[in-house]
Amino acid sequence: MVAIVYVHPDGREQTLDVKVGENLMQAAVDEDIREIIGECGGYAMCATCHVLVDEADLARLVPVAKLEDEMLAGIGAERQLNSRLSCQIVVAAGLDGLRVHLPLSQI
Ligand code: FES
Repeated sequence: MVAIVYVHPDGREQTLDVKVGENLMQAAVDEDIREIIGECGGYAMCATCHVLVDEADLARLVPVAKLEDEMLAGIGAERQLNSRLSCQIVVAAGLDGLRVHLPLSQI
């Protein structure tokens, strides 16, 4: 298990132990983290799983792929340099302690 820290818009932190190979959207939905919708089920087709990755952690992630990049153009909030789709972040051992900030709204 890998510890992932979800930071709610009010600053509250929620740490989940996530299985290697699972994506951050599914882990959040399974724990009923309401800021993540995940409408398409993780196929990078809905952009309702947007998170802002802590800038200190960006270098630990696989770069944004073309499809994710296209979908990030349609997120509800203004896209930031650290915007990612949480369904496209697959947990690996090297991500222990990763922090993601949840947006106020996905639409
Ligand atoms: S769950 Fe739909 S884009 Fe991530």
